[in-house]
Formats: sequence, C-alpha cells, structure tokens
Amino acid sequence: MSDWSVEQIEKLPSEAQSAAAEAAGLADLERVRVGYLGRDGKVTQALKAVGKLPPVLRPAAGRAANEARQGVEAAITARRERLEAEAAAQRAVADHLDVTLPGYGPEPGHRHPIMLVLEEICDIFVGMGYEVITGPEVEWSALNWTALNYPPDHPAMDEQASFYVTDDVMLRTHTSPVQIRAMRARHDEHCPVRQLAWQTPPMEVLPRCRCSPAPVRVVVPGRTYRRESVTLTHHDIFHQLECLLVDEGISFADLHGTMATFVREYFGPNTRIRFRPDFFPFTEPSADFSINCEMCGGRGCRFCKDTGWVEIGGSGLVHPNVLIAGGYDPAKVSGFAFGFGIERLAQRRFNIEDIRTLYENDMRFLRQF
Ligand code: PHE
Repeated sequence: MSDWSVEQIEKLPSEAQSAAAEAAGLADLERVRVGYLGRDGKVTQALKAVGKLPPVLRPAAGRAANEARQGVEAAITARRERLEAEAAAQRAVADHLDVTLPGYGPEPGHRHPIMLVLEEICDIFVGMGYEVITGPEVEWSALNWTALNYPPDHPAMDEQASFYVTDDVMLRTHTSPVQIRAMRARHDEHCPVRQLAWQTPPMEVLPRCRCSPAPVRVVVPGRTYRRESVTLTHHDIFHQLECLLVDEGISFADLHGTMATFVREYFGPNTRIRFRPDFFPFTEPSADFSINCEMCGGRGCRFCKDTGWVEIGGSGLVHPNVLIAGGYDPAKVSGFAFGFGIERLAQRRFNIEDIRTLYENDMRFLRQF
C-alpha cells in the first residue's frame, strides 16, 4: 500500500466532512465528491491500493477503506441534503404565493338604463295584477297592420315607416301586434281560433269558438323598429311598453284610472294626465296622453318645449275589429290599450341628452348605471 496508510485512510471521512462543510453550493459539493469518490478520488485510490497489498494486510486495510468510503458518502450526502434544503427554502421565499390576496372574480354585468326603466314600469303593472308577456320582434305584417284594423294602403302606415323582411314579414313598428297574440292565446287549446296560423284572421272560425276566453290583462315590454334617420332625438331602434285590458264592461274610466295609478307611481304622486283626441286604427276613441312636466312644474321649460306637458304615448278603447281579430265578441267584452316609448322616459330619468348613446355600447357611458 504504497502511498496509503491505514491511519490516512481512517482520516478520509473527517477530511471529506470538512471539505463538504466548506462547499458553498451543490456545484462545490460535487467537486468535493469527485475529489474523494470519483475515478481518481482519494477513496478510489485507497481502494485500488488495497488490492495491491500482500494478502495478510488486505482484510484490515480493506475494512478501513470500505468504512472510509461509507463515511465519506455519508458526509457528502448529509451536506447535499442540507444544501438542497437551504436552496428550497430560498426558492420558497422567492416564489412566495400569498394565498390571502383576493382573486380575480368575473366582472358582474348590470342592467342597461332602458331595461332599468322597463323593469320598474313592469313591476308597477304586476302590482296591479297584470301579466308581463313578450312577442317577436320579427312579426307578420298581418299582425303589425291588418289585424290592428289598418285598411290596405292606409296612410297611417306611412307614419311608421318599416323594415320589411319579406312582403309578409317585417320588424314590428310597435308592440301592439302582441295584443292580438295575447288575445288569441287565451283561447282553449282545442278552440279553432287557437289552431289558426297567426297570420290568418279568425272571423270565419269565430262562430265555432266554444270557449269563453278569460279576461286579458297584460303588459308587453319590447323592442320596436322604424325606418328613421338617426338623430339626437330619434333612433331606428326603440322600446315600447304596451298595456292591454279586455274584460266585460271596460270603459274609458278604467283606462284613465289605470293610467293615473301608473303615472303617480312612476312619476310621483302629484302627476296629472292630459288626454287629447288622436287617431289610431286599433282604438276608438283614441287619445294621446301627456303628463304635467315635473321639471318646471308646468311653467314651461326646455324638457316640455315650454308647453308644461310631456307627451307620453297613445291610448284608447280597443276597436271592435281588433277584438274580433283576437277572437273576442265585441258584443260581450270591451277593452282599453295604451302604449308608450321607453327611451324618452329613460332619458328624463337619467338626464341623457343624446338618444344614440343608449345604443353605442360605450362602456364609459354604460358603467354609470
Ligand atoms: N302602437 C301605438 C304607437 O306605437 C301606441 C298605442 C298603443 C296607441 C295602444 C293606442 C293603443 O304609436
């Protein structure tokens, strides 16, 4: 055992331990390991040297060398574990995840000003026992016009310039066609009136109707379309709310009472209503209705164009021909209807000067509601 004494061999583990303790990192430690256990490492050399010893000396030297190897391995492993634990602790600090930070929730949506107004108005009518229903925005012209008693080529149709899809199908110009749908829907499932296609008038099958369609009490919020140039005050898309009541013995007094209850609820308890004669093919008599201007208390301002009154919408008693188109007998029932635009109410409520902002979907505008 030329260069190696047993004493030397026995010192290898503690030498290796001091060298390992000085290793500042895993790379350093690897160099230490190679220095002892690598191909030319001290332990490897010692083991090789043992093989060359005379047989009588081999067992003791061999045991010493093997113990030295185990001791060196243990020293290096202990140091590696220590260094790895330190590195992990440093990473944990660097990659620190603060689980107490609030997360990113989905941004909740909110209602459009038009919908806020519509919902508030519907609530008032629900409180009076009305049902809220809707109808299609793409409607049969037979329901938008004919069933509502517009004679062919009647000039009143010009007031509501329309978008047509085909000759028979159009974007509805008002919510009034839903009056017909609401009335027809009240017939029993097996009644011939109910079986008809919407665009077919029920006059011919009416004598075979055996059901007594219950009273109709509905409000219809919805989107409507007219061919208009888009300006500060007009848009080709707008919203209406339709109200229809059909029952026995309904008179103009019921119309006035219902409307008064609604406007006092919505605009304030001192609101007054003004009716003026008007014309709609589907009501008779017909009246437009206004409320006193709450901005100026009736003295006149730019909101009421100095009249003291603000026009809200149209109204009247349901025309007998419309009752018939709904499958009702005008000798037995009567009704009232009114309808008004929502945009103008939303503009007043939220002080929105330009109607176009309601449809531009500018988030800076919409976030305010
Ligand atoms: N549909 C009419 C319009 O859009 C309003 C109205 C509804 C008038 C119901 C009378 C009865 O102008």
